Amino acid sequence: MFNLILFGPPGSGKGTQSDLLVSKYGLVHLSTGNLLRSEIADKTPLGIEAKNFMDKGQLVPDEVVIGMIDNCLELHKDAGGFLFDGFPRTANQAKALDKLLELKRTAIHSVLALEVTEEELVKRLLERGKTSGRSDDTNEAVIRNRFAVYQNETAPVAEHYKAQHKFKAIPGEGTVADISAALGEQIDKVLERQRKEQEAF
Ligand code: AP5
Repeated sequence: MFNLILFGPPGSGKGTQSDLLVSKYGLVHLSTGNLLRSEIADKTPLGIEAKNFMDKGQLVPDEVVIGMIDNCLELHKDAGGFLFDGFPRTANQAKALDKLLELKRTAIHSVLALEVTEEELVKRLLERGKTSGRSDDTNEAVIRNRFAVYQNETAPVAEHYKAQHKFKAIPGEGTVADISAALGEQIDKVLERQRKEQEAF
């Protein structure tokens, strides 16, 4: 099994790059943002609760998203691996993910963080807000709040994975194809290392 986290601030390209990587590496894409938006579209009780947080650019409570991820891991128990996009976003979520994967006798193998300047991020999100219908993209104050939440609660999660020697920053500006190639190069290195370790074992 191969499990990857695509990490980075709002608008850094996690969703765009995930779509390319899941087909290339045969992974199941688990985006908590997409899962929550689908709950909102279906007007489920979870979706109605989540919308209040998302519209303000705040995080949905940990227990809600951890429960969603737990269900998805169970649903795809025969998967060859997972690409986590937008999760974990807090220290509690990172610890919970470690435990959930440990129960399945696996772990996170690599965390790739897309680095993009704030000015470029705002530009991308305001542009996307014109057509996406995402309520958290149309208002610059909400976008700035999402960045503040990212700095305060999510960026520190990097330390959890740096301590495990699994974290690698990747420049997130340039063409989608070039960024995808840089991510692929790093993933191939990790897979090669994993293959050698398995051979030695
Ligand atoms: P979520 O859906 O995860 O959104 P996000 O992290 O804010 O990220 P985005 O989807 O905005 O951006 P992205 O990095 O995927 O970039 P994308 O590829 O789309 O979360 C939304 C909300 O849900 C949160 O605020 C929170 O409320 C809640 N939530 C989700 N997960 C949670 C969790 N774990 N815990 C608690 N709450 C949670 O690209 C952005 C734009 O840029 C696109 O238009 C794209 O076309 C463009 N673009 C991409 N790459 C490039 C490039 N190289 N050059 C130019 N443009 C580019």
